[in-house]
Amino acid sequence: MVNVLFVCLGNICRSPMAEAVLRHKIHERGLSSSITVDSAGTGDWHIGNPPHEGTRCILDQHGISYEGMKARRVSSDDFENYQYIICMDNSNGTNVRKLQGGEEAELLFFMDLLPEEELREVPDPYFTGNFEQVYELMDAGCDVLLDTIVREKL
Ligand code: 4NP
Repeated sequence: MVNVLFVCLGNICRSPMAEAVLRHKIHERGLSSSITVDSAGTGDWHIGNPPHEGTRCILDQHGISYEGMKARRVSSDDFENYQYIICMDNSNGTNVRKLQGGEEAELLFFMDLLPEEELREVPDPYFTGNFEQVYELMDAGCDVLLDTIVREKL
């Protein structure tokens, strides 16, 4: 089993969108028995909450389910359980590194999936309000990620 964890700050906007989009693509490609996906935040403000309305709205527009998703905080246990831990921005990476075992953890950054993009961090729609922009990045980046996982691990 290959386990993927997306990490952002609040776990209500960017990382749950990535989780839902990647899970949808995993289903479409018939890979549900080989790859799992989850998301978590470095902050604790929204623990237990569903995705932000902006994220839910854009996922609804694209027919992508977010059923049952609830925010949780990233923890040291995640280093044992996930082969791909993918941060949305540099501050997420800095915060994950502060967890026990975080200094040695292998971390990836979402925008490294899209090297041709000028943006090098996923903008936070909690502040920008631009959920469509994040959706376009998640849609493109998750295709690249799935190709990478299939090539590297399956
Ligand atoms: P996210 O966005 O990290 O993409 O989930 C945020 C959500 C909530 C807050 C900040 C960013 N907040 O400060 O509550």
